[in-house]
Amino acid sequence: MSERWFVAGGAGFIGSHLVDRLVDWGPGTVYDNLSVGRRERVADHVERGTVTLKVADLLDLKQLEQAMAEHEIVFHLAANPEARWGLENPRLDLEQGTIVTHNVLEAMRRTGARRLVFASSGTVYGDTAEPCGEEDLGHLPISLYGASKLASEALISAYVECFGLQAWIFRFGNVAGPRGTHGAALDFLYRLKTNPVDLEVLGDGRQAKPYVWVADVVDAILFALEHAPGPLSVLNIAPPDVTAVSRIAELCVAASPNPTATIRYRGGERGWPGDVPRSRMLGDRLAALGYRLTRTSDEAVAAAVAALAKEVFEGHAAPPSRAQRERGS
Ligand SMILES: NC(=O)c1ccc[n+]([C@@H]2O[C@H](COP(=O)([O-])OP(=O)(O)OC[C@H]3O[C@@H](n4cnc5c(N)ncnc54)[C@H](O)[C@@H]3O)[C@@H](O)[C@H]2O)c1
Repeated sequence: MSERWFVAGGAGFIGSHLVDRLVDWGPGTVYDNLSVGRRERVADHVERGTVTLKVADLLDLKQLEQAMAEHEIVFHLAANPEARWGLENPRLDLEQGTIVTHNVLEAMRRTGARRLVFASSGTVYGDTAEPCGEEDLGHLPISLYGASKLASEALISAYVECFGLQAWIFRFGNVAGPRGTHGAALDFLYRLKTNPVDLEVLGDGRQAKPYVWVADVVDAILFALEHAPGPLSVLNIAPPDVTAVSRIAELCVAASPNPTATIRYRGGERGWPGDVPRSRMLGDRLAALGYRLTRTSDEAVAAAVAALAKEVFEGHAAPPSRAQRERGS
């Protein structure tokens, strides 16, 4: 491919892994307000001249439109990163999810960018432990984050139909890997850094979700761009198996400087209101296109904990900023 590409949220976790691959296509733009993302994640590419980093907010439609001019394909990976932050600030997902997605679509319509990749999530399937394929939307989302993802998907479908865009909506499981910015493993590792003696875990530890290796996510997206030619493709990216929170906590303790730290579970079967305690996703559509994930959920988590433990205990990684959750009020 040689299209000029644009990644909204490209200095974040998944976005920066994607950018590492897109530079092979030629030059492109990362648009990020650095609320969670970090400049150093794309700094090498910027130095080499393959990436232009525009530090600006997606809520600023004028700047977005200016920055997006003369790009053909847009990857939209910006959002409130933590579903539970919506409990503290109920406007957060409306603004950072739904309105931001509308701005991305509007900027595309105005600039003539035609192809969109959107990062959605398995949270659109709501509170069900049944394995969900792409058609299984019988249960509506139960978090504000999930609601904003489903609203964004609906907006994308409407823009495809009304304004001739081509779009790929990817519903990720929980994504795991180096440079993670949030999620259970990183949270546990930071807690263990502050308190090496015992680890408090929200919920009873039996919550279990599918975890997908970040490099598989990027590969699957690039594969689907070539192999799913329809005007609108909706694809799950998740392994069929799941990993329990208790397993993640055990791996984090084992990877910490004090592998004898005790784990204390606090609360019931749900980590927080809006959390789906057990979810499963089916990846049949992606498999039918010919793509196979390289890691199971347990393998993805084990590799991610090993990488993140190095970053947290040996590196100088700072915990995710609180600025993002305080926005949008
Ligand atoms: N990580 C997961 O487990 C997971 C699972 C399912 C879906 N997703 C979705 O994938 C996408 C990427 O997730 P991630 O884990 O890389 O998150 P991330 O927070 O690491 O990356 C998002 C990036 O977007 C930027 N950003 C956020 N709001 C912005 C705004 N208003 N203007 C400009 N930049 C903004 C942040 O600074 C950050 O660099 C998100 O849409 C997320 O909802 C992630």
